[in-house]
Amino acid sequence: MKIYGTPAARKTVRPLPSRQSDFLPAKKEAWGSRIGVILAVTGSAVGLGNFLRFPGKAAQYGGGAFMLPYFIALFLLGLPMAWAEWAMGRHGGAHGHNSLPGIFRVVWRSKLAPYFGVLGLLIPVAIYMYYIYIEAWCLGYAWKFATGSMALGADPSRYAEFFARYVGLSAHGSAFNLSSGSWSDSVLPALALCFLLNFAIIYRGLGKGIELFCKWAMPALVVCALIVLVRVLTLGTPDATKPEQSLSNGLGFMWNLGWGGQTVWQALANSQMWLEAAGQIFFTLSVGFGIISCYASYLKPNDDIALSSLTACAGNEFCEVALGGLITVPAAFVFLGAAGVVAATRSTFNLGFMTLPMIFNAMPLGQFVGAVFFFLLFLAALTSSISMLQPAIALLEEGLGLGRRASVALLGFITAVGTAFIVYFSKGAVALDTFDFWIGSVCIYVLATIQVILFGWVMGMERGFEEIQRGAGIHVPKLFMYIIKYVSPAYLLIVFGLWLFQTAGQYVRKIGSDPVVAGSVGFLVLLFVFFLMLTAQAVRRWQKMHPFHKEAGP
Ligand code: PHE
Repeated sequence: MKIYGTPAARKTVRPLPSRQSDFLPAKKEAWGSRIGVILAVTGSAVGLGNFLRFPGKAAQYGGGAFMLPYFIALFLLGLPMAWAEWAMGRHGGAHGHNSLPGIFRVVWRSKLAPYFGVLGLLIPVAIYMYYIYIEAWCLGYAWKFATGSMALGADPSRYAEFFARYVGLSAHGSAFNLSSGSWSDSVLPALALCFLLNFAIIYRGLGKGIELFCKWAMPALVVCALIVLVRVLTLGTPDATKPEQSLSNGLGFMWNLGWGGQTVWQALANSQMWLEAAGQIFFTLSVGFGIISCYASYLKPNDDIALSSLTACAGNEFCEVALGGLITVPAAFVFLGAAGVVAATRSTFNLGFMTLPMIFNAMPLGQFVGAVFFFLLFLAALTSSISMLQPAIALLEEGLGLGRRASVALLGFITAVGTAFIVYFSKGAVALDTFDFWIGSVCIYVLATIQVILFGWVMGMERGFEEIQRGAGIHVPKLFMYIIKYVSPAYLLIVFGLWLFQTAGQYVRKIGSDPVVAGSVGFLVLLFVFFLMLTAQAVRRWQKMHPFHKEAGP
């Protein structure tokens, strides 16, 4: 007998839930405290970008001159977009969704909407695949400093050689080749440990894993940074024969507006700098990745987001400008001078993994400070990398109905394959660079643009503002809504368009000329298709469980 045959019977016998929240699993994950979610978001934001990428970029573009486009991008893009991400995330969470495809589905009631969120899975997972490799270098270097095996003397070539061997820069597959060196010179144990730690934290879940870990790791990270900072700020002029290489000149090099004979105006006319400054803001705040939305979806509908977002952004900026900006470049300056710093910041990894280790070894207490510095980098990277896993875990759980064990195992397998690919194709770090360019630069701009349009135009200023203000601990000026609606998308489209125009050509050509680059792009395409299929499956399930017409209003 068909007991659900008529609408009336359906109502009396087995009422279909009218709100999505009725479908929430009995044990919905949630943050334990407000400080916990703030620290988790700050932990995601504070990472290698703060301590290595930022000082490198700033030094490259003339120190202080970089700060102007940097702060403009912070106010026109970073802060507004962070609010938008928090607001969309909490809104989606109130309707039972934690993954970006689900959140988009609630914000924009269209069948297409979830597919725009696929990038919110691809980006964090693909970044994780190479970020974890760098995280392992940090752990390995910390261990080596702590055990005294990083004392390689004053010859820069020894550090370059060590790094090349450790990372396998000279030949594909060499990082896996253990016969030529001992285990202690291999990155693999550190990498395995990092993988285990990340998945152990994720497996424990939101409150007992991510939140608990960040509550412990974030203060520890700041203490480590302060120890290193005190050492750097008391360096004085280590080489009396070169009085110009003083700490105050080092700080001036980092912070004065012009250098190298450039006027401020000449420095500011560099369009590439504007693009890189905007890119740095995205990268460092972790906005544009879908991660903040995922974290915010575990809030309760009336929890504050306005002040929490501002606090997390401010915490990140403190770690970036006040800690990251005062440590690496001034330290490198007093030992190497201006020309040395400029040379060291030319390649991304040069400063962190070749120049700084040598500098630590040259300073009193350097072994200890080196260990603390690399441990700090490791903690910063770990609190970021766990945040890259959560969005995909959320989709596997809420979209496909998998349990924690199955989703952790599946994601562990996929990311292990990706990381193995990157570690194997290590010659010239070509796979890593290709992932970083297409995902960490191109895709994040695309997703950021999608998000800002969804928030400013689809959700709309009124609804969006109401969402940000609900339960808010501060009043957000309405001006920001105009910025989100008009200025941020225009800024993004212009910046993105210009930059694509300038740089993408050379990367596209590389696909044709280098099979490893082509393979890496192919791998990313496959990963995209995989997440597309998972999303399609999730959409089918959501439609069945809670179709649009059964939902309460927005
Ligand atoms: N914000 C992190 C940093 O500054 C990087 C990051 C990228 C974190 C992507 C999460 C997701 O290093």
